[in-house]
Amino acid sequence: MLVSRLTTHNTAYRFWFCKGLNLEIGLEMYNQSTAGNNTSYGNRLFIYEVEGLGGSQDSEIAPTVRQSGITKFTVPYTRMQQESQRINRMGGRIVAVYPANGDVSSAPAAPSAPAKKEKKKVPTNTYRPKAPFVGQCISNEPLVGEGGNGIVQHIKFDLSGGDPHLAYLEGQSIGIIPEGTDKNGKPHKIRLYSIASTQHGDDLDDKTVSLCVRQLEYEDPETKETVYGVCSTYLCNLPVGAPVKITGPVGKEMLLPDDEDAKIIMFGTGTGIAPFRAYLWRMFKDGERAINPDYQFKGFAWLIFGVPKTPNILYKEELEELQAKYPDNFRLTYAISREQKNAEGGKMYIQNRVAENAPEIWQMLKDPKTRAYMCGLRGMEDGIDAAMAAEAEKEGIDWVDYRKTLKKEHRWNVETY
Ligand SMILES: Cc1cc2nc3c(=O)[nH]c(=O)nc-3n(C[C@H](O)[C@H](O)[C@H](O)COP(=O)(O)OP(=O)(O)OC[C@H]3O[C@@H](n4cnc5c(N)ncnc54)[C@H](O)[C@@H]3O)c2cc1C
Ligand SMILES: NC(=O)c1ccc[n+]([C@@H]2O[C@H](COP(=O)([O-])OP(=O)(O)OC[C@H]3O[C@@H](n4cnc5c(N)ncnc54)[C@H](OP(=O)(O)O)[C@@H]3O)[C@@H](O)[C@H]2O)c1
Repeated sequence: MLVSRLTTHNTAYRFWFCKGLNLEIGLEMYNQSTAGNNTSYGNRLFIYEVEGLGGSQDSEIAPTVRQSGITKFTVPYTRMQQESQRINRMGGRIVAVYPANGDVSSAPAAPSAPAKKEKKKVPTNTYRPKAPFVGQCISNEPLVGEGGNGIVQHIKFDLSGGDPHLAYLEGQSIGIIPEGTDKNGKPHKIRLYSIASTQHGDDLDDKTVSLCVRQLEYEDPETKETVYGVCSTYLCNLPVGAPVKITGPVGKEMLLPDDEDAKIIMFGTGTGIAPFRAYLWRMFKDGERAINPDYQFKGFAWLIFGVPKTPNILYKEELEELQAKYPDNFRLTYAISREQKNAEGGKMYIQNRVAENAPEIWQMLKDPKTRAYMCGLRGMEDGIDAAMAAEAEKEGIDWVDYRKTLKKEHRWNVETY
């Protein structure tokens, strides 16, 4: 809850105040003047004003002042998160945070305390491999346009009749057990697929789940024969009406926060679009907005999407429609590797787009309202880290440390395969 905002000539701090025991504090700074400044922030001090602490405190940091129910603590930057958690555990409520010396011009964008814990119940493993749910294929549609690379299908399954019902949330995955047996004559093992539909399903009746599946195809390095993946081939060729064994749902890494004002950065390659389709549909599709009165997204979503060719831009028309309808809330950036060139003349990969936009992404990441998600090829991770590390370095901040804090706060979420 934003209660007050203090602004100096070029710097703005926001203070979040919280009621009750669920403490959520954020300190956000916008300061263009710090770009390129190599100040080390570890030794900077901040004052926490805390309400609701009795006489006894187990804080390692001694309170400096107590007056009219407010206890003030002087907290080094490096211990801000730890101290917030401790105060929270003691039942205290942080009502203000500010730099100890009043010099706000070189203060860092402090890592915020953890984002509020997901309160909603997350369905997990409703169906396990030994007793999977048997759904039915309702539709199986191609997603790659003419001239595009390979086969990717949007496949919808009927979940009705399940007892218990196979409910799921955006960002989770399901398991599929392909028909048949492996080379040892044993039933095939499950393969995981990210769910591409919202929790209400593509028909908005809570009775379906959809996937976005690429048929795995590669050349055997020894025999040089073309090999097709077992489960992806089974799914991409699944006829309408066919039964299909489904397990799950699983996964808590990629859950979308309930916050309608959140800032969501999505890094996706190819079929990694699946969870982002679910997020974006929930945020912006008319039908979804109509049935989710408690979730009328008005924050900011940014999808950076890497694909080989234009016909491989999965869900292209719908993405661009949503972007046109919500230009202030949804930004869409493509990296089309085999058509566009990066600054060095090489393939335009997602990490090149991240590097181009690094100052903006970095500023966003400092905001406690921002969560970043990465889904798709594992290969993009190092490049994205390198781009963010270069940007963080300009402010003397170590990206790996910063990323650890973001991860703890559920603000840097990765599901790559
Ligand atoms: C959390 C999660 C979410 C996922 N979501 C999706 C999704 O949304 N969409 C999607 O399409 N996939 C997704 N996958 C991948 C999916 O689970 C399967 O791994 C994929 O479909 C391949 O399975 P398969 O049965 O077709 O291949 P398999 O028959 O299992 O063959 C895979 C094996 O082939 C070999 N292989 C693969 N490529 C090569 C190569 N180039 N050279 C030599 N050997 C190779 C490797 O040994 C590999 O283990 C996800 C994976 C995870 C873990
Ligand atoms: N678990 C699995 O085994 C699994 C699951 C799904 C898909 N796959 C395989 O993964 C590949 C991708 O399939 P997809 O449909 O998801 O994606 P896709 O449509 O092939 O798009 C992937 C995009 O990422 C680019 N890319 C490749 N290497 C990259 C790297 N290191 N960093 C950043 N970007 C990179 C690709 O560029 P270029 O291709 O032009 O280099 C392409 O633009 C396919 O070969 C598919 O068979 C494997």
